[in-house]
Amino acid sequence: MRPGRLIGLLSAVLGFWWAGSAAAQTIPQYGQDRHVGVTSCAGSTCHGAVTPWKNSTVLQNEYVTWEQKDRHSKAYKTLLTERSQRIARNLGLANAHEAKVCLDCHAHNPPAEKRGRVFQVSDGVGCEACHGGAERWLGVHVTGLASHDDNVKAGLYPTEEPIARAKLCLSCHFGDQNKFVNHRIMGAGHPRMSFELDTFTAIQPAHYVVDEDYTKRKRVSNGVQTWAIGQAMAISTVLDGMLDPKRNRDGIFPELVFFDCHACHHPMSNVRWEPRASVGLQPGLPRLNDSNLVMLAVITQRIDPTLANKLKQESLALHQASAQGNEATVAAARALRATTGELVTKFAGHAFGKADMQALLTGVVEAGKAGEYIDYAAAEQATMAISAILTAMRRAGVVDENAYKAMRAALDKCYEATAKDEEYKPRVYVAALQAFEATIPKF
Ligand code: HEC
Ligand code: HEC
Ligand code: HEC
Ligand code: HEC
Repeated sequence: MRPGRLIGLLSAVLGFWWAGSAAAQTIPQYGQDRHVGVTSCAGSTCHGAVTPWKNSTVLQNEYVTWEQKDRHSKAYKTLLTERSQRIARNLGLANAHEAKVCLDCHAHNPPAEKRGRVFQVSDGVGCEACHGGAERWLGVHVTGLASHDDNVKAGLYPTEEPIARAKLCLSCHFGDQNKFVNHRIMGAGHPRMSFELDTFTAIQPAHYVVDEDYTKRKRVSNGVQTWAIGQAMAISTVLDGMLDPKRNRDGIFPELVFFDCHACHHPMSNVRWEPRASVGLQPGLPRLNDSNLVMLAVITQRIDPTLANKLKQESLALHQASAQGNEATVAAARALRATTGELVTKFAGHAFGKADMQALLTGVVEAGKAGEYIDYAAAEQATMAISAILTAMRRAGVVDENAYKAMRAALDKCYEATAKDEEYKPRVYVAALQAFEATIPKF
């Protein structure tokens, strides 16, 4: 057997194991363990060093990175701002910083009996919001003798696994069955949310380095695989919302956050509607936000063309159903959800090698030329996708430094064309995309 094939098989087996265990993972907020609080992690001999330690497996200055550069450390303070106070007022809440609906995402908000002595909700989205209540793993992990697996068995959340990570991030960056920014909260003034797993992991910013030692301790998913899994997980999470009777309707209307914000919110003088074959709807109808589906179509076409065809039919059916009514929408969402779940497992078991990276880069550009980025949300996802693929290509040595730099510079124009959502012009974006295409080396 060729080594490539063996690796493929191995990663397929690992992928299934990964998918199975990660999907079952309980996110830290709802976990069994007590949360000790950021202060307990921030000692100068623990994770509160000012500069990275030389002889340590981890950086030890994670707290400083989080405190100074990571928006999560400011998430609670956001609730004290004038903007949040206005949102709270509009929703009839006494204030934002004590409202469960806000704290569930803008802080680590486990129930009172799961909080340790020095735990403070005002720390915002702290270490344990992502890494899990430290009650059981704190003891063994400070000895330095525990392996990563030992820590995970003692309640550490496996943030390195892309499926588990996606589930965690999306629980706040989209919402879940217990916490959710619906259109009423948006209408009160909450900003639009968008998410791409690999990009957001990078800009958090990372408080760890993926070096040789890291890859010995943890399984590393390359950026393209992380992106692919993130797309399948994101749309799965959205579909779960559409299937949830508590979240999918608001009076006579369907819940509007499932729809493309800009389908309704853009100046009437900016006339830009064009038919899209993958949507199949007439003008004048709100469209579901299908930005993740557009990306998923590109990825699936490369990884499994048969499933890609099914995905295409089911996506079209969902768009059609959205114009018919709730029952039809739920039925179509259920069918599509089975497929997107299958894709999560598929992508977890696929190695995403050099040829995949090349094909996916081309695929994302082609989708734009075929008219898939008429809506802002899809262009935004495409831009983040290209960025994720380029970074992975550079790491894997698929492109040399000069080619990488030329493509990055061209990608800047795509970023410019998506900088202001309400001023988005599809033609300008596609022109930037074509200029980018000209910088792609012949593979
Ligand atoms: C407990 C909820 C929660 C979890 C879990 C969470 N986030 Fe966030 N995240 C937030 C909130 C709230 C903000 C906005 C903070 C602010 O500006 O007030 C945010 C902001 C961010 C930002 C900055 C966005 C910007 O526009 O600058 C990035 C990047 C980010 N999160 C990445 C991630 C990633 C990656 C994960 C998963 C590993 C994750 N987040 C998990 C709640 C969460
Ligand atoms: C389901 C999780 C969730 C809930 C519930 C939630 N938020 Fe947010 N909020 C976020 C995330 C994630 C962001 C960052 C969005 C981004 O930049 O991509 C954010 C951003 C914000 C911002 C803009 C912050 C900035 O720096 O630009 C404000 C203000 C805000 N939220 C206030 C509130 C208030 C007030 C409530 C309660 C009524 C609330 N949020 C409920 C997840 C949530
Ligand atoms: C928004 C989610 C989030 C928050 C908040 C967060 N982390 Fe992380 N952390 C991650 C992710 C994602 C990784 C990378 C995947 C991995 O190695 O598990 C990581 C990795 C780590 C690592 C592993 C480094 C390695 O080489 O193995 C340490 C240590 C760490 N974080 C400590 C902290 C500390 C301390 C805090 C609080 C000051 C914190 N983290 C807050 C998401 C988060
Ligand atoms: C089907 C059409 C539709 C969709 C889709 C839609 N909205 Fe709205 N939105 C409305 C309507 C109607 C109002 C109420 C307008 C008013 O009160 O003047 C509104 C109000 C708002 C407001 C308050 C505006 C104000 O004047 O204070 C915000 C902010 C907002 N929406 C954000 C969003 C975001 C973000 C999305 C996507 C996640 C979204 N909307 C999707 C129709 C829509």
